[in-house]
Amino acid sequence: MESQRHRSFSITIKLTTWLLLIATVSISPSHAVPRRGPYDEKPRYGNPITEIKYSSPSCRAHVSSLTEFGGVGDGTTLNTNAFRSAVEHLSQYSSTGGGMLYVPAGRWLTGPFNLTSYFTLYLHKNATILGTQDVNQWPLIDPLPSYGRGRDKPGGRYSSLIGGANLTDVVITGDNGTIDGQGASWWQKFHKNQLKYTRGYLIELLYSDQILISNLTLVNSPAWNIHPVYSSNIVVSGITILAPVHSPNTDGINPDSCSQVRIEDCYVVSGDDCVAIKSGWDEYGISYGMPSQHIVIRRLTCISPTSAVIALGSEMSGGIQDVRAEDITAINSESGVRIKTAPGRGAYVKDVYVRGMNLNTMKWAFWMTGNYKSHPDNNYDPNAMPEVTSISYSNVVATQVTTAARLEGIPNDAFTGICISNVTVSMAKSKKYTWTCTDVEGVSSDVSPQPCEPLQGKHEGSCPFPTESLPIDTVEFQQCSYTLP
Ligand SMILES: *[C@@H]1O[C@H](CO)[C@@H](O)[C@H](O)[C@H]1NC(C)=O
Ligand SMILES: *[C@@H]1O[C@H](CO)[C@@H](O)[C@H](O)[C@H]1NC(C)=O
Ligand SMILES: *[C@@H]1O[C@H](CO)[C@@H](O)[C@H](O)[C@H]1NC(C)=O
Ligand SMILES: *[C@@H]1O[C@H](CO)[C@@H](O)[C@H](O)[C@H]1NC(C)=O
Ligand SMILES: *[C@@H]1O[C@H](CO)[C@@H](O)[C@H](O)[C@H]1NC(C)=O
Ligand SMILES: *[C@@H]1O[C@H](CO)[C@@H](O)[C@H](O)[C@H]1NC(C)=O
Repeated sequence: MESQRHRSFSITIKLTTWLLLIATVSISPSHAVPRRGPYDEKPRYGNPITEIKYSSPSCRAHVSSLTEFGGVGDGTTLNTNAFRSAVEHLSQYSSTGGGMLYVPAGRWLTGPFNLTSYFTLYLHKNATILGTQDVNQWPLIDPLPSYGRGRDKPGGRYSSLIGGANLTDVVITGDNGTIDGQGASWWQKFHKNQLKYTRGYLIELLYSDQILISNLTLVNSPAWNIHPVYSSNIVVSGITILAPVHSPNTDGINPDSCSQVRIEDCYVVSGDDCVAIKSGWDEYGISYGMPSQHIVIRRLTCISPTSAVIALGSEMSGGIQDVRAEDITAINSESGVRIKTAPGRGAYVKDVYVRGMNLNTMKWAFWMTGNYKSHPDNNYDPNAMPEVTSISYSNVVATQVTTAARLEGIPNDAFTGICISNVTVSMAKSKKYTWTCTDVEGVSSDVSPQPCEPLQGKHEGSCPFPTESLPIDTVEFQQCSYTLP
């Protein structure tokens, strides 16, 4: 039944696509953009056919190629206008089956552009979208209300390479095509303090619902790679993120004041946290009051020598609740699932469940900090205390570890309800500092080497992990398939 339904669906799509492509190409003489077909260049070889297949919650009825909008994939022509007019053109189909922008093989230099609703951006395997290094091409946008300022600098910030706000049903996918931020010049300017504003991200979607980002490689972002903010129902799957391990703030995937998020089968090598869950900064985050919650992360592989595999915070002033991490692998990383907060942050980090971590060559297997001193300005409330409670780790094997755990709560605001079970930490040669704990309370079982005194209370069996799946785990995917002439 199931497969039959999918088959007939994809056939319908194929037919509609053909008809529409033929229709748009042949009967739109008044169309303002030049329609140089992507395949016109090789007529001698007949009509090469491109097959596209991907899985997504929704397929699209209308398809255009970037070349129809004047795009040139030579790595030097600026395609900002081609991307913008393609999206603009496809936005007209939001209520009639949605549109897909196909990015063919090639190197497509561009400045920032925004997406639209009921829209798919699809990258061919050999397509690379290149972010321009010309700072003047990056428009300035307002700071996020939950941050009050840019993260690098006070005031506004450069927009993200691929952006969008107030969207519904957005897909960014491809056959492992590449989005390259060409970040090196940004990192250099950042280090030399030559930037007046905060660097842009590679992908940022604000106030959006139903987002899929899958099967792509993201390299050398100027700063964070994937930043959904004030958004919900988000799947990030099959993403490879690569940046030099000393590049500044090249975080992998940062859900920020987002709900129902599923991150799976991702591989991240970066100069900052592989995944960082956030929800706003001090007084701005407290007054915006939008938590990050109901987040599942599974089958993540991370290399992050200077940062965490998964960080919670440090900007957590809208609260972070119900985070589930499973089957996590890390190599040469600073710490595992790390909590970062401070007086002034307010809100909470609670109901965090981690099960199954394989950590190799780590500075700290476990790390929590209550004195992460970075504030947006001096107007934060030093009495706004964060609540950190109900944090569980089980089934952890860590090798080549410098310090097993450094758990630092806040004086008179202890981190409570910590549970650690079935953990084996093997220390690196000649390292003898195992556990340091202050202002934390909890229980443990089967933990080696023996945890610090505040966690020596006995826990029976495994630490808790929710048994019910999240709604985002039950989203249905369809096979979308298209035949492009
Ligand atoms: C990503 O690609 C894999 C293998 O090519 C495929 O099985 C999977 O369905 C794709 N995932 C999504 C979300 O498109
Ligand atoms: C991608 O490029 C490589 C190297 O040029 C080529 O061998 C391969 O056939 C291309 N793949 C597709 C799907 O066009
Ligand atoms: C993209 O969207 C953002 C957020 O709504 C907006 O500030 C920016 O001006 C838009 N950029 C472009 C190029 O339209
Ligand atoms: C998007 O929605 C938010 C919240 O409703 C609103 O403040 C903002 O102005 C909207 N932005 C755009 C670009 O429509
Ligand atoms: C996608 O490309 C990246 C970079 O070349 C590679 O490391 C990764 O293995 C590829 N992923 C898949 C599923 O082929
Ligand atoms: C303890 O953890 C290991 C791997 O980390 C796992 O294979 C094993 O099943 C766990 N034991 C229990 C009782 O859960």
